[in-house]
Amino acid sequence: MTTLTFPADFRWGTATSAYQIEGAVAEGGRTESIWDTFCRVPGAIANGDDGTVAVDHYHRYAEDVAQLAALGVDTYRFSVSWPRAIRPDGRPNPAGMDFYSRLVDELLGAGITPWLTLYHWDLPESIAGGWTSRDTACLFADYATAMHAALGDRVRHWTTLNEPWCSAFLGYASGEHAPGHNDPASAVRAVHHLMLGHGLATQALRAADPAATLGITLNFTPVYAADPASAADADLVRRIDGTSNRMFIEPILLGAYPADVVADLGDLWTPDLVADGDLAIISTPIDVLGVNYYTTNVVRAPKPGEVPEPNVVRGRTLASPHITAPEAIPVDRGLPVTGMGWDVDPDGLYGLLVRLQSEYTGSRGIPMVITENGAAYDDTIGADGLVEDSGRLDYVRSHLAAAHRAIAAGVDLRGYLLWSLVDNFEWSHGYHRRFGIVRVDEQLRRLPKASALWYQAVAGSGTLTL
Ligand code: FCB
Repeated sequence: MTTLTFPADFRWGTATSAYQIEGAVAEGGRTESIWDTFCRVPGAIANGDDGTVAVDHYHRYAEDVAQLAALGVDTYRFSVSWPRAIRPDGRPNPAGMDFYSRLVDELLGAGITPWLTLYHWDLPESIAGGWTSRDTACLFADYATAMHAALGDRVRHWTTLNEPWCSAFLGYASGEHAPGHNDPASAVRAVHHLMLGHGLATQALRAADPAATLGITLNFTPVYAADPASAADADLVRRIDGTSNRMFIEPILLGAYPADVVADLGDLWTPDLVADGDLAIISTPIDVLGVNYYTTNVVRAPKPGEVPEPNVVRGRTLASPHITAPEAIPVDRGLPVTGMGWDVDPDGLYGLLVRLQSEYTGSRGIPMVITENGAAYDDTIGADGLVEDSGRLDYVRSHLAAAHRAIAAGVDLRGYLLWSLVDNFEWSHGYHRRFGIVRVDEQLRRLPKASALWYQAVAGSGTLTL
């Protein structure tokens, strides 16, 4: 048995997002988000599920905070629903603001640090053009300012966007996410407007509150060549890594979009897209980088005459490679997979953290926090009512061990926020993909799984036993 000890000030927490848990979509003056409308498109969501009730967190938030307190975690990452907080005329919605204010007070009362994400995909339906419109970036900064005015006295940790790759490419290119468009040109515009929105919001928050901790959460999916000696495989990796990973971190930390990605995009990257001064805004300094990590991929070039199955790498739609590397063929490494069909690859997390530290964050003195990591599995309920979710527990344990290894190698990693606190609405997969360490049953009762009891011991002691 080996026991790993994490730094004394390492943050332990869990993460959720508004649309996935709140429900109450027509209460307290909330107007529609793009996910409300997208869920009504026949076939868009497995089983015809939607977020109308979700896990009713809007009404049961105190119970959920009690679950967090029982877990003994010190940090809770949640998101604000923009159409609950802000009315279509741009003014704050008092009932919506009151909900988040009560949630924050409940967290603080339980000794838990609120870590607020402004945008986890539920854009107000009322915003014309969505992220294809440059104006949306400005509206996002106004929304950030309004949230800070309401909560900035109590919320000290602010994340602008969650996973802009998903918002842009799954929302506008593959159509798998709201608003469900299939237009690569729109996806590319969305990338830049999301990045600009991040920069404008960061500037606004910084001006209002120089001492706040500001950051963004990016999803990184490392990709490897099936044959490291193959130039064709290496070029696929370059292109996929470009649109999946570098396209988002480089404008923020290096102040420029990667030139090779811009060249790959050709006419999709229109001359009017990036205005003078945009990159200076986007690269406004941040205080922390949020890293979401789930899996890695291996790809190879097709053999002569082989026709690739477009777009899909081991269960996860790869909308951006479809644009820049449509011929990529996924390779099955024979690794264990989660209930999502995603390869379990903790070494990928280690390699990612070391790469981010050495290529991007280290020289700039920017610490990282894992803002999401976790797994869906098909849970079975034991006779005693307990879910013995050993698959999920092993997944988290092996990834925490990889995180510890990265810290030992010099990576400035400050915390781990497990996805997710409770089972919830897993976007286009609906409710049957369960990521929670706390089960939510048909009656919406919360029942900690074995992984929750285990995580409580890890977070409480700051040690991990292998
Ligand atoms: C991430 C999302 C989160 C959840 C997990 C499984 O991409 O940010 O909302 O869906 O995946």
